[in-house]
This record gives sequence, structure tokens and C-alpha cells, in this order.
Amino acid sequence: MPVDEKKRPKHRISAYIIRHCDWLLLQNLMTKRTQKAYNKWAPAYDADPNPHILVEHDDVLKLVVPKRHEKILDAACGTGKYTIEFHKRGANVIGIDFSKKMLEVAQNKYPAIKFYQADLEKKLSFRNQQFDKINCAQALKHLRNIKPTLKEFFRVLRKGGILVFSVTHPEMDWDGFEMKDNPDFVLSENSDIFHHKFKDYFDAINQAGFKMDKIVQVPISKKIRHLLTPKSYKIVKGRYEVIIFRLIKP
Ligand SMILES: C[S@@+](CC[C@H](N)C(=O)[O-])C[C@H]1O[C@@H](n2cnc3c(N)ncnc32)[C@H](O)[C@@H]1O
Repeated sequence: MPVDEKKRPKHRISAYIIRHCDWLLLQNLMTKRTQKAYNKWAPAYDADPNPHILVEHDDVLKLVVPKRHEKILDAACGTGKYTIEFHKRGANVIGIDFSKKMLEVAQNKYPAIKFYQADLEKKLSFRNQQFDKINCAQALKHLRNIKPTLKEFFRVLRKGGILVFSVTHPEMDWDGFEMKDNPDFVLSENSDIFHHKFKDYFDAINQAGFKMDKIVQVPISKKIRHLLTPKSYKIVKGRYEVIIFRLIKP
């Protein structure tokens, strides 16, 4: 039987719609999985050893330079580890995160700070140019596509505003990295993690319109020595663990 040519495009369209819906469903399931993981981890998050946050903490603060009355958005604030630091230095800070449970921990610890639930993969409900600075620590690994998020950060920053974000160093070599105590909660087993490369970060930064100000590569150092076995520390010390980008909206 000859193929009904007129029907072909329709079939193609419905196939496309079905494929697209599958993809959206998959995206949604993945987001939910990571959200569920953090909801589960929330009660123990602060007490659990967290080598990335510990090793980068001082450098992140040095790059954000929070000042009095500055409007700062702590995006993916978790339990508020950085949010409180900005608040203590007199900034008007808002913390957002998509995990309700992480936010509950943050809000209970710091009732004076405003925390809201928001998904970094969706449009943010803030006005254009509302913030002086944005901090986003150790969260972009959970986003499949970081470009729309960086564009949103660009939109809500004022001209001259600063974005600081930290991520696992793309060339981090985990061989020989061994913690003294095996954590009860293993993030990589419970959530979705995307290993973005340098090019992914640079492309997203450029496409959003940011200008590079500084890059800090943070090595494994004595700051996290107590978390690793002595043998492991000897092997891995000095390797880059985290990278922090400081960007300006021109
Ligand atoms: C490793 S924790 C870091 C938390 C905090 N920035 C800190 O330094 O302690 C990553 C955080 O990103 C949040 N997160 C992951 N994907 C997100 C998304 N799409 N939207 C909002 N928050 C997200 C998680 O809920 C979690 O609180």
C-alpha cells in the first residue's frame, strides 16, 4: 500500500511530541530524585563531614565580600551555611533552595533570614536587577543544563553585580581519596550528578553575558586533613578539589 504522504508530517509531529514529553517526564523525575535526596539528608547535613564546603568556605567568602546593606541571593542555600555568614556581615540576604527539608533546617536555625523554596531550573520569581550579588555553592552539578540558570542569575543581578559559584573541580582526581568515616548518606548514590566540563562552564558564562573576574582553584589541604585517612591525605593533598568562579555583570 502506498504511504499516505499527507499523513507523514502529522506522524512526525506526534512522534516528536511523545519524545519531548518523555524527555520532560525524565527531567522531572531526575529533579525529584535529587530533591528527595536532599530532603532525606537534611537532618544530618550539618553534622556530616562535607569536604567540599569545608575546603572552599574561606575562599568563597573572600570572593563574595559581603557588605552591609548589600542585597545578596544565596541560591541553593541548603541549610544556610553561607546565608548566615552574609547576614552576620550586615547584608540583606535571601536564601532559596528546592529542598523543603533543607530550608526548614535553615529557617529553624536562622529565623531572622528569609528563605524561600525555588527551583534553579525554572524562571526565578525575582525582578530584573534585584540583587547586588549571588552566591551559588556546590549546586550546579545537579543541573543537566546550567545555561538557563546562569541567564536567570544574570537577569536578577544589577549592572556591576557579582556572581560567585563553586563546583567540584572538573579535573578532580578521586583516586586514593578515602574518608576516615564512611558517610551514612552517599549523595552520588541518591541524586543525579552531571560532570560538567570547563567548556560547559565557560560557554554558559559567556552566553549569559558575564565577564570573568577571578577563578580560584582550591586544593586539598590541611583544612580537610582530619576527614581523610592519613594514607589518603598523603596521596591526594595538593590536588585541585573545588573551583570557584567570580563573575561580573558588565
Ligand atoms: C551540596 S548542597 C550545598 C548547599 C549550600 N549551598 C552549602 O554550601 O551548604 C546543594 C544544594 O543544592 C540544592 N539544589 C540542587 N538542585 C537544585 C535546584 N534545581 N534548585 C534549587 N536548589 C537545588 C539542594 O537542595 C542542596 O541544598
